[in-house]
Amino acid sequence: MTSFFSRTAATRDDWQTPRHIISALGHFDLDPCANNDDPTRCGSTGFTIEQDGLSREWHGRVWLNPPYGGATPAKVWLMKLARHGNGVALVPPRVGARWFHDVVLSTAHAILFLKGRVSFIDPVAQRPARGNNADSILIAYGLENVVAFEKCGLEGRLWRLLP
Ligand SMILES: C[S@@+](CC[C@H](N)C(=O)[O-])C[C@H]1O[C@@H](n2cnc3c(N)ncnc32)[C@H](O)[C@@H]1O
Repeated sequence: MTSFFSRTAATRDDWQTPRHIISALGHFDLDPCANNDDPTRCGSTGFTIEQDGLSREWHGRVWLNPPYGGATPAKVWLMKLARHGNGVALVPPRVGARWFHDVVLSTAHAILFLKGRVSFIDPVAQRPARGNNADSILIAYGLENVVAFEKCGLEGRLWRLLP
């Protein structure tokens, strides 16, 4: 297994979502921050860093596991998803951060608090990383995605925010 903490500057934004999470949630039309090596791993269309998914027009149901550590804060990606209104984001819960209150608690339809830590996939070794000490939540924007949370079978607690 690869260590979560052995990531290098070249790979630190590249951790992939485990396939079982994507499969449980159903089909996504777009991954706006897709992995270079496998851009359609999470959605039918994938925008890579070269294509800059943030500056593109988004369509359909969006999967968002935003990059961390780059020039653009994750909240900017989430704000775009909130405006788009249809998609699921995978992020750590930063419950004291202003953006979490403004972009998640005030605008999302639901949060699924995942039970247990996610073993993200090293994109080079294609193996789960060990030692992730951060919690993860899934955030639903749009009612279709709340239904997906209800049916997904992922272990955790669903919390509805908007009716
Ligand atoms: C945490 S990884 C998630 C990868 C994939 N979406 C997944 O869930 O498995 C974030 C990805 O965003 C990509 N990325 C960073 N900046 C980007 C940008 N401006 N436009 C599109 N992709 C970007 C990185 O190359 C990296 O592969």
